[in-house]
Amino acid sequence: MATNSPGKFLTIEGGEGAGKSTNIEFINNFLTSNGITVLQTREPGGTPLSERIRNILLDKSENSIHSDTELLLMFAARAQHLHEVIIPAIKKGTWVVCDRFTDATYAYQGGGRGIEMQRIEKLESWVQGDLRPDLTLIFDLPIEVGLERAGKRSEPDRFELEDIEFFKRVRDTYLLRANQSPDKYAIINAEPELSEVQKELTCVLNKLLTTT
Ligand SMILES: Nc1ncnc2c1ncn2[C@@H]1O[C@H](COP(=O)(O)OP(=O)(O)OP(=O)(O)O)[C@@H](O)[C@H]1O
Ligand SMILES: [Mg+2]
Repeated sequence: MATNSPGKFLTIEGGEGAGKSTNIEFINNFLTSNGITVLQTREPGGTPLSERIRNILLDKSENSIHSDTELLLMFAARAQHLHEVIIPAIKKGTWVVCDRFTDATYAYQGGGRGIEMQRIEKLESWVQGDLRPDLTLIFDLPIEVGLERAGKRSEPDRFELEDIEFFKRVRDTYLLRANQSPDKYAIINAEPELSEVQKELTCVLNKLLTTT
């Protein structure tokens, strides 16, 4: 791969317990073994300041955060992450693989909280300019299965305390966005056992490499 060509920007999305953090390691290893330099990161977070904002956003004792405040904190964390980490890495030719990005904002603050999508679009343009992921992988599974997996793994965070209707809206928003731009998204069935999920993931990654 030519060192002077910019890297790709891949984002990993899906509801609670869908296997994003588990599979991002697999993606990282797959790309690295194909000679690609990878930077693995996450949102909200990815820089010291953005991780501090993440702590506020996930803290369940913060029980009076207004939905607008939540949205703006997401984009504040994102602005720092983009300028400090993501954009410099892509410019150097590194592929950035990010656990959640702006699709999560559309899904959780738009679908989940009910903030108008046009308001999120304005912030997206303001903070990102024309930077968008090259490909977004959506790990999709029934909400109850994801919540059960997440519940076995750790204590619920501030988002995981929401009701089932909230998570339905989140899932529907992800699927709607993916279906509207099929060339920019791959939906991966995250319900089967991990080896099955990773078979499907390998197909998606092989296709990505052959079209790059
Ligand atoms: N296909 C699978 N089958 C069974 N268990 C799985 C599968 N994929 C992941 N898990 C398990 O489910 C739990 C949640 O996975 P993981 O933390 O990767 O999800 P996540 O999408 O990152 O969740 P969150 O949204 O909370 O960050 C972990 O304990 C993980 O080992
Ligand atoms: Mg995770």
